[in-house]
Amino acid sequence: MIVVDILEPEEAHALAIRATGNLPMLNRIGRAPGPAPISDAGEGRQGWVGDCSVVKALMPELLEWPLCGRLIAAACRLDVRATPGPWQRSHATLKVYGPGDGQGLHVDTNPITVLLLLMGEGGPETGQGVHPLAPGQALVFRGGDIPHRVRPASAWRVTVPLNFYTPDDMHRPDYADSLVYGD
Ligand SMILES: [Fe+2]
Repeated sequence: MIVVDILEPEEAHALAIRATGNLPMLNRIGRAPGPAPISDAGEGRQGWVGDCSVVKALMPELLEWPLCGRLIAAACRLDVRATPGPWQRSHATLKVYGPGDGQGLHVDTNPITVLLLLMGEGGPETGQGVHPLAPGQALVFRGGDIPHRVRPASAWRVTVPLNFYTPDDMHRPDYADSLVYGD
C-alpha cells in the first residue's frame, strides 16, 4: 500500500464541498442517512454514489491534466503497466458517506485501486487496521486482492476511488455497474 499526495488539503476540501452541495446528482444507496452505532451488524453499503459522468460534471479537473496524470502515476507506483482500462463509466466514482454510512467488507472488481480522500479521516480499513490518510492524499492498493471496508462514522466522508487495470486483468463483471451505481 502506498500513500501519494495528489491535492492540497484546501483543494480537496473545495472538491468535497462541490460533492456534498450537489447530492441530488448522486444516487442514494441503502437506507436513509442518520446516526447509527458503529457495528459490524448488518454491514452493507450506504451512501451516495456517482459515476464518472458525475465526477466529470462536478470536478472535471480530476480527469484532466495534470491531476489525471498524477493519479495514473500513482497507480503505476504499484504496477508500471497500470491503465484506466476500457470501462469508462467506472474510471472514477464519487462516494459521499453521511453520518452512519459505510461499506461492508469487500474486494474490488478491478486489480488496482487509487482511493483519493477529499473529506474525512483515514483510508479504508483492512486486516492491518485503518490506513492513515489525510484529505488530498490517495491510498494506492491492490483492491482486487485486499479485503477492505469503510466503518460507519459520525463525520462526513467524501472519496473518489479510481479503478485501474493491468494487461493481465481487464475484466469487469456484467453486474458491477448496477451494483455500484444502484441502477
Ligand atoms: Fe473497495
